Amino acid sequence: MDIFVIKGGRPLSGACRVSGAKNAVLPAMAAAILADGPVEIAGVPHLRDIGTFEKLLGILGADVSRSEAGDGRETVRIVNGEGRKAEAPYDLVKTMRASVLVLGPLLARYGRARISLPGGCAIGARPIDQHLRGLEHMGAKTSLSEGYIEAVADRLRGAPVYFDMKTVTGTENLMMAAVLADGVTVLSNAAHEPEVCDLARLLRAMGADIEGEGTDEIVIHGVRSLHGARHEIMTDRIEAATLLLAGAITGGDVTALGADASAMGAVLEKLQESGAEVSAVPGGVRVRREGRIRSVNVKTAPYPGFPTDVQAQFMAYMCLGDGFSIVSETIFENRFMHVAELRRMGGRIDVSGNTAAVKGVEGLSGAPLMATDLRASASLVLAGLAASGTTEVLRIYHLDRGYESLEKKLSSLGADIARVKE
Ligand code: EPU
Repeated sequence: MDIFVIKGGRPLSGACRVSGAKNAVLPAMAAAILADGPVEIAGVPHLRDIGTFEKLLGILGADVSRSEAGDGRETVRIVNGEGRKAEAPYDLVKTMRASVLVLGPLLARYGRARISLPGGCAIGARPIDQHLRGLEHMGAKTSLSEGYIEAVADRLRGAPVYFDMKTVTGTENLMMAAVLADGVTVLSNAAHEPEVCDLARLLRAMGADIEGEGTDEIVIHGVRSLHGARHEIMTDRIEAATLLLAGAITGGDVTALGADASAMGAVLEKLQESGAEVSAVPGGVRVRREGRIRSVNVKTAPYPGFPTDVQAQFMAYMCLGDGFSIVSETIFENRFMHVAELRRMGGRIDVSGNTAAVKGVEGLSGAPLMATDLRASASLVLAGLAASGTTEVLRIYHLDRGYESLEKKLSSLGADIARVKE
């Protein structure tokens, strides 16, 4: 197994390119199931989760290929095959819950789907009741047997669907089901995330009739069929935030090229409040910081609130603040797995329920650490970059699910970080 070895204490500086967004690529790949022609997604990063999704589409009968443009960026091309199977097996779903994104498209296109029900994961129970209830409102019959959700519907009917909470993949699944349904679907209390908007752009390019994405209410008029399309994927706002925080936590000066400041408002505001200088520069976002970090409070919330996917990284940053910081996690019930590891580096953090009180310290010290999930791993890397001495981050396969060559990007900014075999 690979580990990261980090020698901390070097301010990072320079510019590096942000990759395409994992959480936009996965629904875009699922959307290809809906198309009669090839769907090309440009700017797709090399990530374990995307590899898993390619495998899943292969099992479902699609032909998936990658090609490289001259600039090193890759395009994934997906062509639906004949003799399609409509089953997502446990072996894949257990490694990636986002597999559930094929449920809506399979049902809309083929009238049936059999998907292994995802279990809980490291960050919480993560039920999919909202996905299933929405599909039932649209006329699907769903049942559970042998750990698999079976859904059938001759043809889905447009319907009003009200979500009990903001759910990102729930909104995406229902959007994909509704584009080929008979009639009008109105998704109320829909998620506003930029990744939902990116999916709407692709679906429209495929011929879908959608409006209202990015607001509480998305209205979809079903069409008879969808054609292939080419889609440029949005850049990864979570990776961009992580790179900018790497600059800020080390007292450096980092530009995230390709980062879209308009999709990162809450994070950039908190960086500014903490004393960092944030500016939108041509082609990206730049963050500089000198002096002591000011402690600030953060509370995660659905977009446009502070993203839960940046909570762990921001907590690492707050460990070095000049006072107290209250970090509240409102989206997932178990997303403080990084706390115990940060404490091993000298972080002073008390947790009570979904709230962590972080008392800033003058410095962290390097230690061997265990990565537990994707964003927790990133937070340990950030802490290691700022700490004195050597930090080893074990089990970085978690990190490889969602960060493309993070160690290379950080090295290009001056970090002393290496990937080695354990
Ligand atoms: N929820 C339910 N029932 C549902 C759906 C959601 O109770 O049917 C609850 C969840 O348990 C959670 C909340 O609603 O408490 C929000 O969950 P959401 O459905 O929005 O999460 P998700 O769609 O499963 C996506 C991202 C996550 C990100 C969350 C929140 C993808 C593939 N995943 O998950 O990304 O944390 O939205 O923004 O888009 C990551 O990249 O590290 C990651 C975990």
